[in-house]
Amino acid sequence: MDTAHKADTAALVIRSAEPEDAAAISALLGGTGTFEGTLQLPEMPVASRLDYLQRVDPLTCKLVAVSEEGIVGMAALHVQHPGLRRAHVRGLGIGIAPAWQARGVGRRLITRLLDWADNWAGVLRVELVVHADNDRAIALYRGLGFVEEGLHKAYALKNGRYVDTFSMARMHPNPPRLA
Ligand SMILES: CC(C)(COP(=O)(O)OP(=O)(O)OC[C@H]1O[C@@H](n2cnc3c(N)ncnc32)[C@H](O)[C@@H]1OP(=O)(O)O)[C@@H](O)C(=O)NCCC(=O)NCCS
Repeated sequence: MDTAHKADTAALVIRSAEPEDAAAISALLGGTGTFEGTLQLPEMPVASRLDYLQRVDPLTCKLVAVSEEGIVGMAALHVQHPGLRRAHVRGLGIGIAPAWQARGVGRRLITRLLDWADNWAGVLRVELVVHADNDRAIALYRGLGFVEEGLHKAYALKNGRYVDTFSMARMHPNPPRLA
């Protein structure tokens, strides 16, 4: 990695996603080189994602990574099930623009989300599903304490083939206790 790249990455700002970011985030998540590793579709209208991206929900944490070019990454923790008995759980989603992948942006975004989850939001379990061939994502998640919990056969359609996915989860390493 050259010095210019390092400087670019260090200058990135991580901040909360705002309703007015919806169109830029939609373009990021639907962009070639990003959508394939997720459950997003190509050619999805921005309008189909606007409701989710503009909704303000205090139980959700949505972060963006912003460079001089604009939004280059997004990661979020969502409520997986509205019932009280799953109130300690959030699901992780993430997408980084191709030119910014493998430069530590995903690690920075998820680290910030885990601080929110561990220290502010009472989350004990963060879970996700990742395509079994997504080596970079799996390496990143493992490095941040996620472990594989199971294999789903033919979980999702990806470019004309059904692909397997892993369930992964990370438990709070040091859950808060009463003093
Ligand atoms: C997967 C994704 C979120 C990772 O974010 P990122 O910013 O590219 O990742 P980072 O640079 O922060 O970290 C990547 C890690 O994987 C490692 N890595 C990079 N390329 C790798 C590869 N081809 N194989 C294995 N490990 C790899 C890096 O060494 C790094 O490890 P570390 O954190 O222990 O140093 C991002 O590449 C992306 O958005 N991809 C397209 C969409 C997607 O797949 N989303 C995930 C859905 S589950």
